[in-house]
Amino acid sequence: MRLEGKSIVVTGASAGMGQAIVTRFVQEGAYVVAVARRKERLEELAAELKDAPGKVIIYAGDVSNPAVCEGMIDLAVKEFGRLDVLVNNAGIMDDNTAVGDMSDEMMERMFKVNTYAPLYSMRKAIKVFLEQDDESGNIINVTSVGAVHQTAGVAYCASKAAIASATKNTAFMYIDKGIRCNAIAPGGVLTDIPLVMPTANEFGFKRTSSLLTHSPELGMPEDIANAALFLASDESLFVNGSVITCDGGWTCF
Ligand SMILES: NC(=O)c1ccc[n+]([C@@H]2O[C@H](COP(=O)([O-])OP(=O)(O)OC[C@H]3O[C@@H](n4cnc5c(N)ncnc54)[C@H](O)[C@@H]3O)[C@@H](O)[C@H]2O)c1
Repeated sequence: MRLEGKSIVVTGASAGMGQAIVTRFVQEGAYVVAVARRKERLEELAAELKDAPGKVIIYAGDVSNPAVCEGMIDLAVKEFGRLDVLVNNAGIMDDNTAVGDMSDEMMERMFKVNTYAPLYSMRKAIKVFLEQDDESGNIINVTSVGAVHQTAGVAYCASKAAIASATKNTAFMYIDKGIRCNAIAPGGVLTDIPLVMPTANEFGFKRTSSLLTHSPELGMPEDIANAALFLASDESLFVNGSVITCDGGWTCF
């Protein structure tokens, strides 16, 4: 097993990529704290995985609250004795709005969930990593091809670009410790995200949808879980500060 006994926190675990990541990790022997807002969805996931080699503990909360980000990591340390890997996957999509039409509310919502939440969690995880005997730890952020390419509105793309930048900064800052920080930039993946995204802004969507002509078939959440598994495992020990694009080639143009 590739993650046997590793203590891991995964956010956004009640659907899509987060659910696939938890499933894959637990099948590989990981001990996972699965975090999302919907407790009943987490309970279903834990029940599905009860016979898997690893373990799942659920933690219900909104990651835009710093206390939740601290609490989920404290829980992993309390239950599993340490923290090995943090996966910041929870995220939300905007309505494709260009900056001229962007509301304060949309800007705040995107940054709170897509940028502040991973930063709160990384801050807490780093403190825990540095206190561990081996000062080691591993952070995986889920950004987006939208961090570089204009696949969504300005608030979403900017919020994801910030976290791609924070990934490299963190890898650089702790390079002399045993701490790694990488990111995955998914392209279009078949998840619940279109179901929960706000109605598209007409002008913005017309611009962003022009890029869809280059898009291959949508990926599956398991495709992203496989990339996360590589980054979480010791097979990627020499990978640090990287943003791995998983988009089926969409952004090769
Ligand atoms: N699906 C895509 O095409 C795509 C493309 C690029 C990047 N991404 C990114 O991938 C990540 C996962 O997205 P997905 O497609 O699986 O979406 P999804 O909507 O299927 O799942 C998102 C998960 O995050 C959780 N979540 C959202 N806000 C939260 C909050 N405030 N607190 C706690 N949990 C919260 C949801 O409950 C859910 O479990 C996101 O960061 C998203 O931005 C998705």
